[in-house]
Amino acid sequence: MTGVGRLDGKRTLVIGGGGAGIGRSIVRSCAAAGAAVAVADVDAARATEAAEELLAAGHVAHALSGDVRSREQLDGMIEGAAERLGGLDVLITVVGGQVAFVPAVRLHEMADADWDTVYELNLRYVARAVRRVLRLFLEQGTGGAVVGIGSVTGFMAAPMQAGYGAAKAGLHSLARTVAAEYAADGIRMNVVAGGAISTAVNAGVAAAWVPEIPAGRYGTSEEMAAAAVYLASDEARYVTGQQIVLDGGVSVRGPFPQ
Ligand SMILES: NC(=O)c1ccc[n+]([C@@H]2O[C@H](COP(=O)([O-])OP(=O)(O)OC[C@H]3O[C@@H](n4cnc5c(N)ncnc54)[C@H](O)[C@@H]3O)[C@@H](O)[C@H]2O)c1
Repeated sequence: MTGVGRLDGKRTLVIGGGGAGIGRSIVRSCAAAGAAVAVADVDAARATEAAEELLAAGHVAHALSGDVRSREQLDGMIEGAAERLGGLDVLITVVGGQVAFVPAVRLHEMADADWDTVYELNLRYVARAVRRVLRLFLEQGTGGAVVGIGSVTGFMAAPMQAGYGAAKAGLHSLARTVAAEYAADGIRMNVVAGGAISTAVNAGVAAAWVPEIPAGRYGTSEEMAAAAVYLASDEARYVTGQQIVLDGGVSVRGPFPQ
């Protein structure tokens, strides 16, 4: 972990931290930066494996399981993390995506149920989790930081992923509102917006997209994690309501022929 942020002693919950991709990199980087980490995931075995890896390396770690689609289980993960860690300072929401959950189709072909699924897994649970931790942060009186894992689809067109883009746009909006409403309480929320990041989800199309990326390669989960650690850390204490975009230049490339 070579990022600028330190999280020494920060009690950190990573929802979706059992993942093989960005989630796992985030829990590793948080622990390496000094955080005590609660890893929550719908896949209990993956959460346990991630926590055991951290424990074996001498870090403080706990595993929790639950499905973010259930309000009860979501609250259970947040309350369970606060109980085990003795409070919470940082929440990082990783669960999300579209193609992992529903077919990628044009908007008019999208089933209502699929739209709802994408909304539940990218925005509804984040809003619920943020509301729960805001109450916790206010009760503790210690401030706190929330980092949402967003996407360039939250501010660019998202062909074949309309539900995903709309939900991520909502996540980015939520961060701005939390920033404005809670800055005076020492509570910040920011977003790490990924472009094409090399994970299992896009392994099949990776080569085809590379020519569209000015940097000439995909981003990595570790690069996403470094940005998340920075935003969660006190080094970012004056940064709130923002999105750090990791897309190799995709979103700023001009429309003119290169
Ligand atoms: N992969 C990319 O190219 C890319 C680009 C930009 C943004 N992102 C965002 O990064 C985040 C992580 O994506 P990833 O593909 O690296 O995934 P990941 O490998 O980090 O895995 C996410 C984890 O979420 C867990 N999960 C799934 N459904 C759940 C549920 N209902 N309740 C609790 N946990 C659940 C999974 O078990 C998995 O362990 C997502 O928000 C995604 O939108 C990804």
